[in-house]
Amino acid sequence: MPAIDRLGRSSYDLITLHLRAKSSRPIFSPHLLPPYFSLNTTSNRSLRQRLKSRNLQPELMDDPELPREQHDHALRGLTTIHRFSGLVNRFWRGLLPILKRSQQNQSGPLKIADMGCGDGYLLRQLARKSAAHGFAVDWIGCDFSRTACDLAAQKARDAGGNIRFQKVDILTGDLPEKVDVIINSLFLHHFEAGDAELILKKFRDATTQAFIVEDLRRTVVGYYLAWTCGRLLTRSPIVHYDGVVSVEGAFSITEIESVLAAADIHTAKICKRWPERFVLTFHH
Ligand SMILES: C[S@@+](CC[C@H](N)C(=O)[O-])C[C@H]1O[C@@H](n2cnc3c(N)ncnc32)[C@H](O)[C@@H]1O
Repeated sequence: MPAIDRLGRSSYDLITLHLRAKSSRPIFSPHLLPPYFSLNTTSNRSLRQRLKSRNLQPELMDDPELPREQHDHALRGLTTIHRFSGLVNRFWRGLLPILKRSQQNQSGPLKIADMGCGDGYLLRQLARKSAAHGFAVDWIGCDFSRTACDLAAQKARDAGGNIRFQKVDILTGDLPEKVDVIINSLFLHHFEAGDAELILKKFRDATTQAFIVEDLRRTVVGYYLAWTCGRLLTRSPIVHYDGVVSVEGAFSITEIESVLAAADIHTAKICKRWPERFVLTFHH
C-alpha cells in the first residue's frame, strides 16, 4: 500500500506535486525559503507552535511500492547528508571503547547490527574503519524494505565489504540473532511512542553489550536545517519531503526520556549533538 497522507494523497501524488511546483518556480523566489521563514523571530512563532507536539506523518521512503530508482536516489541523498553531518564519526566514537575491550578480551568477532540500515552506508563506513584498526567484527544490516536490503547488499559487495543483510520488520519480527551491539540512525521518529518503547525493549533484549541510537530533535533550527540542507545537498524530492516531515515527527529529549522510562530502561545516556540530533547510548 502506498503511504497516504491526511488529505488522501499517495506518495506518487506528493512527488508529482512537488516536482510540478519545483519546475514552475523561478530560481530566485520567496518559495525557495523554508515555509514559516522570517528574519523577524516573532513571526517564527507559528512554526514553534507547530513543533510543540509530534506530528507523525507517513514518509515516502517507507512506501514499499516506491520505485527502486527513486528509493536509491533518496538513500544516496541521505548519504550526502550523513557525510555533511558527521554521522559515521559519532557512531565510531561510541563503538571504539567496545571494540577495544572486545579485542583485549580476545572474545572473538563482535556482532554488530544496524536496524533500519537503509542502503548500508553507515555499516560500510564502520566496517572499513574497524578493518583498518584490525578489529574483528561480524556486521549485519536489517531493514523492512526489500529494495533497501538489495541495494545495501549490492553496494557492500561493490565496496568489497563482508556485511550480511536481512529483511526484518522490527515491529512484527525480531532480529535474526542475538548480537553484541545494535546501532540505529534516523529511525525512531518513524514510530508512535508505544512502538518506540517496544523497539527500545527489543534492542535491550537482543544485545549483550550495548545499543546506540541517533535521531533528529524536533526544533525550529532542525526544521530549517532539514529544509535548507536537504535542498542544498540533494535533488531527491523524497528527501526534501521526508526531511521536514521527519523533524515534525521527531521526539524531543523529554519525550524520549519518557519512552525510556516506560520501557523500564533507566541507565541510558542521552546527549544532544550537532546538527540538532540526540545520541542515546545504553550499556548492559
Ligand atoms: C530514514 S531511513 C534511515 C536509513 C539509515 N539508518 C540511515 O541513517 O541512512 C529509515 C529506514 O528505516 C527503515 N524502516 C522503517 N520502518 C521500519 C521497520 N518497521 N522495520 C525495519 N526497518 C524499517 C526504512 O526502510 C528506512 O530504510
